[in-house]
Amino acid sequence: MATPTTINTLVSPVVLFLILLSAPADYSNASAETAEAVGGDTGPCFTSLFSFGDSVSDTGNQMLLGKCPHCCSLPNGETYFGRPTGRCCNGRLIVDFIAEKLGLPLLTPFPGELKSSNFRFGANLAEGGATALDFRFLAERGIFNTHTNVSLGDELKRFRNLLPTLCSSPSECKIYLGKSLIIMGEIGGIDYNRAYFENVAVEQITELVPYVIAEIGNAIQEMVELGAVTILVPGNFPLGCHAGYLAKFWSPNKEDYDPLTGCLVQFNNFAQHHNDLLQEEVVRLQKVHPHANIMYADYYNSVMRLHLHPDEFGFSASLVACCGGGGPYNYNESLLCGVPGTTACADPSTFINWDDHHLTEAAYRIIANDVLQGPFSIPRFNTSHCPVTTRAASGEGHYFAY
Ligand SMILES: *[C@@H]1O[C@H](CO)[C@@H](O)[C@H](O)[C@H]1NC(C)=O
Ligand SMILES: *[C@@H]1O[C@H](CO)[C@@H](O)[C@H](O)[C@H]1NC(C)=O
Ligand SMILES: *[C@@H]1O[C@H](CO)[C@@H](O)[C@H](O)[C@H]1NC(C)=O
Repeated sequence: MATPTTINTLVSPVVLFLILLSAPADYSNASAETAEAVGGDTGPCFTSLFSFGDSVSDTGNQMLLGKCPHCCSLPNGETYFGRPTGRCCNGRLIVDFIAEKLGLPLLTPFPGELKSSNFRFGANLAEGGATALDFRFLAERGIFNTHTNVSLGDELKRFRNLLPTLCSSPSECKIYLGKSLIIMGEIGGIDYNRAYFENVAVEQITELVPYVIAEIGNAIQEMVELGAVTILVPGNFPLGCHAGYLAKFWSPNKEDYDPLTGCLVQFNNFAQHHNDLLQEEVVRLQKVHPHANIMYADYYNSVMRLHLHPDEFGFSASLVACCGGGGPYNYNESLLCGVPGTTACADPSTFINWDDHHLTEAAYRIIANDVLQGPFSIPRFNTSHCPVTTRAASGEGHYFAY
């Protein structure tokens, strides 16, 4: 394991906000250039990208809304952006890599209010802490989200408010959304995390799953009705491999652990149960909407591959978090990554887990590749109609390679 270094830098929220406001300007030039490279509005490729979800996909909404207790401080953002952006990661997220690979600018966060930003290339509705289920439904079951009350339904409401600024009639919106890629999730992870971390009975947590799936299914249905044609639906990560779960639910019984990975079996089984039901729902919706292309993104098995063979992918640490408050998995619930007093590894590119529940940029990059080019999208993501070489909005030059 790399030597930890103490984090004692807290950037003021005002500075962060100013930095973030200046960001869309940087992207807009690159976007125009990129749009031209892929054929602009007349090209056959996706002309915009919309993302829904939680902190796995949040590229700045929590930060814009001022509810960002720890992900909005360094070392979050240290590797790629050189500053915190609200992403719970040292760099880019899966949605960032997908945007880059499709030749689109990194997604502009949309926290629910129209600012001067340009959303022509899409928007990110994902908000850290968001649940799939309405907070009142969860509260009735003793599950409280101290972080935010925002749910997938609220993200859809925000999307419906944004849409009329992008297209001016239902038929025009259908054309616009028909050329968009929609990423619906990962969502539902927080519903389960909150319940598990508040020690809600396992039977009660399992009862939530069909409700979570129905909520995601309704959101997909609604997007298709609005005109979306291509929808990617990510499943949940192997929760039993998260540093937060491993530390919180540490067990003296060897049989609680997967002997090949060291992950907690119970939580991985639970994530797979969610994923099984989600895949059934994707198949059902695909049948109802044969003109659409609804794909399941298998984040679970993409990540499991990393935990099974970390060294093959350049990882020296499989389960311990790069950034956190110490202990065997570098997790302490009162010292989450980014809070003063937490430590971070020197080389996050050799870690899979970034913090309690999030992965490193290095891991996210592999997952994005796995989904777009590998076998981890069901049915396989079809980009054969996209240009073979699509310059990334970042100007770094990531290319599709077939
Ligand atoms: C959630 O909503 C409840 C009831 O409206 C409110 O009391 C609570 O402060 C809200 N929590 C958050 C984190 O916004
Ligand atoms: C977590 O951090 C707190 C605050 O520094 C400390 O008092 C506590 O002992 C730590 N817990 C563990 C399990 O290390
Ligand atoms: C991908 O899409 C192209 C163009 O629509 C089509 O010709 C091709 O058969 C598709 N490939 C797969 C593997 O579905």
